[in-house]
Amino acid sequence: MNMHDYADRLKGLPFYLYPTIEATTDEAIQKGLKIIDLSTGDPKFATPDYIIQALQKACEDPATHHYGSVAGYPPFRKAIAQWYQKRFGVALDPAREIITFVGSKEGIAFLPLAFINPGDVVLIPDPGYPTYRYAASFAGARLEAFPLRPENNYEPDFDEIPETVAKEAKIIYLNYPNNPTGATVDKGFFKRAVQFAKKYGIMIAHDAAYSEVTFDGYRTPSLFEIEEAREVGIEFHTLSKTFCMTGWRVGFAVGHPRIIEGLLEVKRVSSSGHFPAIERAGVEALSRFPVELEANNRALAERRDLVIREFRRFGIDVKPPRGSYYVWFKIPKGRNSLSFVKKLILETGVITFPGIGYGNNGEGFMRIAFVEDLSTIEEALRRLEPYLRT
Ligand SMILES: Cc1ncc(COP(=O)(O)O)c(C=O)c1O
Repeated sequence: MNMHDYADRLKGLPFYLYPTIEATTDEAIQKGLKIIDLSTGDPKFATPDYIIQALQKACEDPATHHYGSVAGYPPFRKAIAQWYQKRFGVALDPAREIITFVGSKEGIAFLPLAFINPGDVVLIPDPGYPTYRYAASFAGARLEAFPLRPENNYEPDFDEIPETVAKEAKIIYLNYPNNPTGATVDKGFFKRAVQFAKKYGIMIAHDAAYSEVTFDGYRTPSLFEIEEAREVGIEFHTLSKTFCMTGWRVGFAVGHPRIIEGLLEVKRVSSSGHFPAIERAGVEALSRFPVELEANNRALAERRDLVIREFRRFGIDVKPPRGSYYVWFKIPKGRNSLSFVKKLILETGVITFPGIGYGNNGEGFMRIAFVEDLSTIEEALRRLEPYLRT
């Protein structure tokens, strides 16, 4: 036995693309190219001042210098419940229906560890945020991808999921506003999802990471605006995108007490509570919502419009997304998305993300994140034009 031999669960993970993109970026830097990174959903907005001040103040209180509550700092869970009530009109019990995480990715990844036995089926959107696949695979799940197609507004067609698969499925991951497609849904979609989930006894894990990053007056509904969702659902949220706090790692989940309890069990044995001062700052963030959000969303909408306008000039027809930071579009016919994106990095210094990184149905597409300022995006598009023009 070789002690350096990785466990089968690690060896069996689906291919992870970020290291390849990073290595290609290093090569471009070596060549002397000036990099513009439009690959990651992390706009360069600063965290609002009032949140930073709240953190500074909390740090000065020695009571915050200790292990935090694993379920989440109680006043933070209370602030989450109040925010949910105000934002979605949904009442939650902070003690039983809310848990916080060190970033929502942590919670998304813990869910299959709590509920999946090897061989259980997990339904994964394709294309979709890669963590669903990796987390389910880590727990030994059998992954069943369901397609998100442009002609269906990137919503799943639940009737298309074979009955035999649906009967075996234990969790379905959904995510709107959607990464990578930017698609948004209305409440009727969640109603259909809940009907499907109840019919087959499947848990809905809705990832609402981009719920507040929206444009053109669109308002994201919560899964729990559908009353019956309480029986089957869990919804993940994050302060990362709403309050420009990606580095702070603050996320949470709300939902059925039994699902929250399962997540808590996994968190207890494999992680810890957050730094209490950060969760105290989180209280301030949520209670002053939506300060600064509208200005940021207006700036993002301008960037989105620039990308869409330029793409139309290049001959690429894309629908402006009403949520998220992403424009998802078809690459020139016959190109392989990974080699195309690598070529763009090496020849232009602009980093985007290949569709294949989000699943097999992502092949033939790529994703641009409009996270830089207008002049940087303009420069990136100027460099990309000869490659994208059809
Ligand atoms: C769809 C989606 N869900 C969840 C996350 C994770 O967010 P965080 O761990 O910062 O809360 C991301 C991050 O980009 C995302 O795109």
